[in-house]
Amino acid sequence: MATAAREHWNSRFGFVAAAVGSAVGLGNMWRFSYLTAEKGGAAFVGLYLLFTAAVGLPVMLAELTIGRGSGKSPILALAHYGGARWKALGGLFVATGFLILSYYSVIAGWTLRYAGEALIIGLPADPGAHFGEISQGFGAFLFHLAFMGLTMGIVAGGVTKGIERVSVVAMPLLFVLVCGIALYAATLDGAGAGYAYYLNADLDNAFSMDVLVAAAGQAFFSLSLGMGAMLTFASYLQRDSNLPNESLIIASADFGVAFLAGLMVFPIIFALGLSADISGSTLGALFVALPKAFINMGGIGRLIGLLFFLALVVGALTSAISLLEVVVSAAVDGLEWTREKAVIVMGLMISMLGAASAWSLNILDVMDQIANNIFLLGGGLALSIFVGWVMDDPLAEVAEGASGVRWFFAWRQLLRWVVPAVLVFVLYHSVPTTVANIGMLWRGE
Ligand code: PFF
Repeated sequence: MATAAREHWNSRFGFVAAAVGSAVGLGNMWRFSYLTAEKGGAAFVGLYLLFTAAVGLPVMLAELTIGRGSGKSPILALAHYGGARWKALGGLFVATGFLILSYYSVIAGWTLRYAGEALIIGLPADPGAHFGEISQGFGAFLFHLAFMGLTMGIVAGGVTKGIERVSVVAMPLLFVLVCGIALYAATLDGAGAGYAYYLNADLDNAFSMDVLVAAAGQAFFSLSLGMGAMLTFASYLQRDSNLPNESLIIASADFGVAFLAGLMVFPIIFALGLSADISGSTLGALFVALPKAFINMGGIGRLIGLLFFLALVVGALTSAISLLEVVVSAAVDGLEWTREKAVIVMGLMISMLGAASAWSLNILDVMDQIANNIFLLGGGLALSIFVGWVMDDPLAEVAEGASGVRWFFAWRQLLRWVVPAVLVFVLYHSVPTTVANIGMLWRGE
């Protein structure tokens, strides 16, 4: 079996960089910012932080536990602890990775194009019209293919020689870029209005179901939870790794970068008088408002724009490789394919499915809502029940490598009671809301 020769990360930093790389991506920069604008600012941010800590963190630790404990990819890992009937959940994880990567890569393709244009020909003169042209249709499909090609190339290299090698460089680079741009944004006249918008809670809004559902979905998406990505990466860990500590580091880094992304996006947009462009934001708004802001900055805008889109590309790439790795590792372990074959066959199938999202923004939006608000939350719910109730002794597995760490003592109780209760509540509202949104998008409203 392929598992006998399972690869391991070269270093602890390698694993952390890859896992943070998975978590930090378009979700932190693009999705977080547009949802914060759409859902009314700081109240959304607060709820998102709450979900990250109370629900995301326990589920993260659950994924790491199953992954390291079994040393297997999702489908076999669940069967390892739960018997054959739990294979279906692993199958759902793999299908979700397949679905998410298909549209994630389309958005990543936009960022690749924007970065390339900023470097070679400069920013578009009319960002609104430009986005309309490049976001849908054949051009969008080509850049999606280019991005998929990059992702497939890295995953084909393997866990240490591909994923780890890229992540240990990409993550520090991303962090420097985001900090640098946020600092630059702070020097702009009028940045204060952006901070005020970002950091003042609109409490009337906070308690709407729609905001709650969006915050929960965003927490799962941003932490790469509910579809086995963290599980898969943890399956390459050595047994002495400290899982509670790693999960804290990953979740903190993920929230930290999302928060920093807000500190770069909102001051820039408000300082350049473009707040109207993002109020009631849609998923494309930032791709219009930010280039406008970069143009209004004059000469330096092109450089800042280039660095900004470069950060997005880097973040997207390290996330996309984790999405593809879920699917590829399942094929390598379960079907006994070679890694190369799995990358090519699965990568091409995902590329083809992405044609639908490249074709229409509405399809992309529908896929995103189905994946996040239903599949990731549903996957997280099933996983918390699995580790809370079905798995024999998850605490013993966590304790290995984590002696002296105490904060997770209540972890299994959280997984048994709190996480499922919260997720059932959220899903109860998210399924109808999502179905209604899908209906609206479908009708083009
Ligand atoms: N966490 C990634 C982001 O925030 O962009 C997206 C993602 C990656 C979701 C991997 C799920 C996943 F398994």
